[in-house]
Amino acid sequence: MNATYFIRTLPLVMLMSLLTLVGVSGCKVATPNDPTGNNLPNDPGDPSQDNTGTPRDDDPSDDPGTPSNLDPNAIKLGVIPKTFPSMNVPSSNPTTQAKIELGRHLFYDKKLSTDGKVSCASCHESSKGFANNVSVSPGVDGLLGNRNAMTLVNLGHYDNYVWNGRFKTLEEHAPGPIFNKVELGFGNDDRNGDGYGDPDGDTIILFRNIENQPKYPSMFKAAFGDEKVTIARMAMAIASFERTFVSNTSPFDDFNNGNKTAISANAIRGYKLFIDTRKTNCLGCHNGPNFTDGQFHNNGLSVSTKDKGRAELTGNSADIGKFRTASLRNAGVTWPYMHDGSISGPTPTAALESVIRRYRDGGDGRVNQDPRIRPLDLNDQDVADIATFIQSLTDTKFLTNPALQHP
Ligand code: HEC
Ligand code: HEC
Repeated sequence: MNATYFIRTLPLVMLMSLLTLVGVSGCKVATPNDPTGNNLPNDPGDPSQDNTGTPRDDDPSDDPGTPSNLDPNAIKLGVIPKTFPSMNVPSSNPTTQAKIELGRHLFYDKKLSTDGKVSCASCHESSKGFANNVSVSPGVDGLLGNRNAMTLVNLGHYDNYVWNGRFKTLEEHAPGPIFNKVELGFGNDDRNGDGYGDPDGDTIILFRNIENQPKYPSMFKAAFGDEKVTIARMAMAIASFERTFVSNTSPFDDFNNGNKTAISANAIRGYKLFIDTRKTNCLGCHNGPNFTDGQFHNNGLSVSTKDKGRAELTGNSADIGKFRTASLRNAGVTWPYMHDGSISGPTPTAALESVIRRYRDGGDGRVNQDPRIRPLDLNDQDVADIATFIQSLTDTKFLTNPALQHP
């Protein structure tokens, strides 16, 4: 290498290192699917952070059956990580105790519904992993939607919300149920979108319902500096409360942290089957510390023509019948199962085993079924043990945590 070459290439080398630096730090600040800029991607080399850290293939299932679709999961993940990555908290809504407390009061407040009989907690009961045991829960006036109330668990780690992921943040989601005709029932009449509602409309009734309760003015003031009630403030408070729904103290967590007697021999056997990617493919989708890849798949449940799932957003027929992988944390108490609550049974254990037997049968084989759903060589004892393992994710400390109960 002569001197002229060195001098000529030097700026290029410097430019390239600079670009690399910018590239790396740039991606630490914001990723394209995170408008808030707060989703700090994690070290891709750290397997404990794979749940949100690795760049996401939009839908790995589009690549049917290639070994690379199955094996990397086995190698990369292998086991369930002990720790969670950091939460996605938008910089516009830093968490404070005052917001959490206000959010808690709003979450349990039936005055947030038009008939005064329903609150968020009617469908999301703390003792049921913030889900409930109804296929489709009634909202105001007993009206029914078409989906099963989701369990609310470790919510700070998702980058999309609801079964088809149509909300990007908890702040964006929270007004959803309030202004949903079959949930809390208010009409969203905020025509100019300033978050204050129209003077002649429903939102004003909602605000009165809140302002007329003596406890709230001081709570809004503590959380936001003055007493004004707005939808945006309500959403920020509710989202802050929801981020405290952290479940990581189940017997399985204890086991995973080294206490080998924390779960039964059957549960351990079930766990081994669950992570054995030759025997089952559970880990392919239910991976990471929250037992979900946060992605959308058709897991073999027959596709309903009423609910297009992810395709509702994308308009893409390849997304029909795809729903976000359910977390398995506290799944032992959240039956009936799936987005439509269609899988149940005479007992909670029977319901869970019924899900696993569906997987064993290889799914209904309908349109867009993920190629990883295929007949599995599992006997009835294997099915029972996998169910016992999933039940070891029931986190009683979380389900009875006084800080999350009705204030
Ligand atoms: C009538 C029952 C009902 C009520 C009332 C209700 N929800 Fe839900 N919740 C659901 C259903 C059903 C879904 C799934 C919706 C979907 O996929 O479209 C859901 C989904 C969610 C999710 C998404 C969770 C995730 O992991 O993506 C959050 C968060 C949530 N609800 C919070 C709330 C809050 C806060 C309130 C009160 C302001 C509330 N819900 C009121 C039934 C209800
Ligand atoms: C291709 C991805 C994929 C694989 C592989 C997979 N699942 Fe799922 N699982 C999902 C999706 C997606 C849902 C939600 C589907 C819906 O609601 O329509 C789900 C839902 C569930 C539920 C219901 C949870 C609830 O709260 O409703 C359980 C339990 C479950 N899976 C267990 C398992 C087990 C055990 C295995 C392995 C035998 C497995 N899954 C394999 C994607 C997968």
